[in-house]
Order: sequence, then C-alpha cells, then structure tokens
Amino acid sequence: MSIHTPKIEKKITVSTIRSMKGKEPITMVTAYDALFARLFDGYVEMLLVGDSLNMSFMGRPDTLSADMEMMLYHTKAVCNGAKLPLIVFDMPFGSYTTAEQALENVVRVYRETDAQAVKIEGGRERADIVRTLTENSVAVVGHIGLMPQFVRSEGGYRVRGKDDADIASLVEDARAIEAAGAFALVVEGVKSEAARAITQAVSIPTIGIGAGVETDGQVLVWSDMFGFFEAFKPKFVKRYLDGAGMVREALEQYVDEVRQRAFPDEEHTY
Ligand code: KIV
Repeated sequence: MSIHTPKIEKKITVSTIRSMKGKEPITMVTAYDALFARLFDGYVEMLLVGDSLNMSFMGRPDTLSADMEMMLYHTKAVCNGAKLPLIVFDMPFGSYTTAEQALENVVRVYRETDAQAVKIEGGRERADIVRTLTENSVAVVGHIGLMPQFVRSEGGYRVRGKDDADIASLVEDARAIEAAGAFALVVEGVKSEAARAITQAVSIPTIGIGAGVETDGQVLVWSDMFGFFEAFKPKFVKRYLDGAGMVREALEQYVDEVRQRAFPDEEHTY
C-alpha cells in the first residue's frame, strides 16, 4: 500500500496547534536524536522529546531517573535535526517540584535549546506551577490521565476514566490546566469516553496516547510504533514497522558476509 500524505512546509507554532482544535487532527511522535528527527521533519506537527527515552534509549525500567542534563542533550540533538515541527521538551521527574524550580529549569530549556514548549505531568495539583510558567512567557503542554512519572508512587500503570467519578475528576484536571494557561494537553491511558469528555470540556487541543480516536490529535513513542522497543507492547501501540526484525536481519547478513569474506567486495573497496 502506498500512502501519499502531504508534507508540512511551514514552521509549526503554538498558534498553529491552537488553531487546529476541532478542525484537523494533530500528529505528534517522540524523537530523541537528530537522525530520526530529520526523518520526521515535515511529516508531523509536533515532536516530543519525551522522558520515555530513559526506557527505550537508556534501558531503564521507568522514566524516573531521566534528568535535566539528559533531556537537554537529546533536545539539542532533535532541534539540530528537525526545523518545521513544534518541539516539546518533556520536563523530567523532580525538575518541577516547586514553581521556582520549574521556572529555573525552563529558563535553561529556552536558553540552551530551540524547543518551543515544555510538557508537565499533573492535574489540578500542578496548576500553580503551570500558571507560573505561562505567566513568564513559557508555552506549556499539560499531561493528565496515566502519568508515567507516578508509576512508583501508584505501584504501576493504571488506565484512568473507568467510572463517572474518575471521568469528572479528569475533566476537572483538564480545566485547571487550561485555566493555568497551557496551550495543549496530552491525555494518556484513559477510556475513550473519558477522552471524549475531556476534549469537549476544554478549548485547547487534546493529544491522546492510549485514549481512543476522539482526541484532537495523537502521539506515539517512535521506538514503540516502529517496533524497536520490544520489552513490552501496551494495547494502544500499533507497530507500523518491524524495526527490530529488520535490523537483526540486516546485521545477520553483514556478519555472514564478513565471515565469508564477501564484504567488502570490489564495489566497496578503494
Ligand atoms: O515521554 C513520553 O514519551 C511521553 C509520551 C508517552 C506522551 O510523555
């Protein structure tokens, strides 16, 4: 099957994303390095330098040990690779425990990288932190629902929005983050009824991951969707490529050719 999706030709800004609410679906993937960011440039509106890189690239069991230095390094690389998407820096665990600390760390993000926005996990309990940032000219993406940075305190990953009370609580979180000035909201790991209620309750775009089809956009972790991360596969992940399989097959061919002295051949020799 060949797909011809029109390429994006202009720089995506916060206003572009805001204006897409209820009109066109927003596409977002994660990116961790310049090589892949360059490949994704012009195809998606948003790139998230997610702290999920701590699991797929660093090999840790959760995101909690990612730190500012690591996230700054990867964000610089992504900004070197992609010019058109709006690039979002994922604030790592422990980098926004108070409004002052959050602001101090975000100043580093804006000074040291070309990222246009930061993402913060948390609902109404973090609204004050989001407000401090937005009042200081920072573009913030909220993140509610299943929040990976809470995995240790909650004892696992739990799908949210399974009953009316929890849906109402999520809607309250979404409204608080919108009122604090966030321009978009990631909604992760919630029942699709909850994602619909949240999307209808706020005027900022919602970007779903494991939240069904009714959010204003979708985000996936690139190493999951291209089949490179094999440790586990959540139900919501669709594998668009067997990346790991393709790499293994190519590597086996290389090893075989070296062992048989078939590589390098005439064509690859000076
Ligand atoms: O870190 C990440 O990749 C994320 C996505 C799961 C939204 O926060």
